Amino acid sequence: MPGYTDRVDSALKTSTESSTAAATTPSAVLRGITKKYFKPDGSVLVEALRGIDLEIPAGQYCAIMGSSGSGKSTLMNILGCLDRPTDGVYELEGLDVASLDDTALSRQRGRRIGFVFQAFNLVSELTIVENVEVPLFYQGLGRVERQQRAIERLELVGLQDRLGHRPAELSGGQQQRVAIARALVTNPAIVMADEPTGNLDSTTGTTILELFDGLHAQGLTIIMVTHDDSVADRCQRIVRLRDGLVERDERGGRGE
Ligand SMILES: Nc1ncnc2c1ncn2[C@@H]1O[C@H](COP(=O)(O)OP(=O)(O)O)[C@@H](O)[C@H]1O
Ligand SMILES: [Mg+2]
Repeated sequence: MPGYTDRVDSALKTSTESSTAAATTPSAVLRGITKKYFKPDGSVLVEALRGIDLEIPAGQYCAIMGSSGSGKSTLMNILGCLDRPTDGVYELEGLDVASLDDTALSRQRGRRIGFVFQAFNLVSELTIVENVEVPLFYQGLGRVERQQRAIERLELVGLQDRLGHRPAELSGGQQQRVAIARALVTNPAIVMADEPTGNLDSTTGTTILELFDGLHAQGLTIIMVTHDDSVADRCQRIVRLRDGLVERDERGGRGE
């Protein structure tokens, strides 16, 4: 029978190995991803993505840029499991997404990914605490725990003194902070953002980008579609799309 030290050694080794494995599993691996939009008669209307190969390591802050119509939102929708590719392989944190039915897919999405959109997408009838609680409601959490976790996240984004307000009573920057709190409330490993500063003036946009810097520093994977050139200095990588293909894959200001 192995001695105490051997057992501790082997336990540590196992835990180190498994945590190393978890740390090195990429957040997203795309191989040969295409997306066609079809006409009602079945013919191809648009080939929005024409073969994307991309690997996004865990913890990377990656910007996706490119002119309007280049396929950024289509790619983000596929990465975020909001839509499925026409062809190709997508592994989300090692999980082959194509094999999942719609229910399983939305469960994985809810567990692994937080979303932030250009237009904030808050529910106007709900208070901001209730807005942040929504993803937890879908996970079946009880009211007390939902509220507690929502308030914690709102404190994190500096809105603890606005809890009972409704979205219309807040500025655009504050609304985007609520959306970020909502994206974080399920403790996702990945945050995906489609033009999060697109509706904000540049000063407010900067404060929002500072929040994303903080999330990156905590180890979250950030994938951000943006036209905002100031993101280039903050991110580690810039993937530029053109006509549904990766045109350039380059280092951002925080790249190694
Ligand atoms: N639901 C859709 N049906 C048909 N065509 C679409 C749809 N969504 C996007 N497209 C087309 O796919 C291409 C890529 O669009 P999109 O991914 O929205 O680009 P971007 O976000 O870079 O502006 C464009 O030509 C667009 O018109
Ligand atoms: Mg778009």
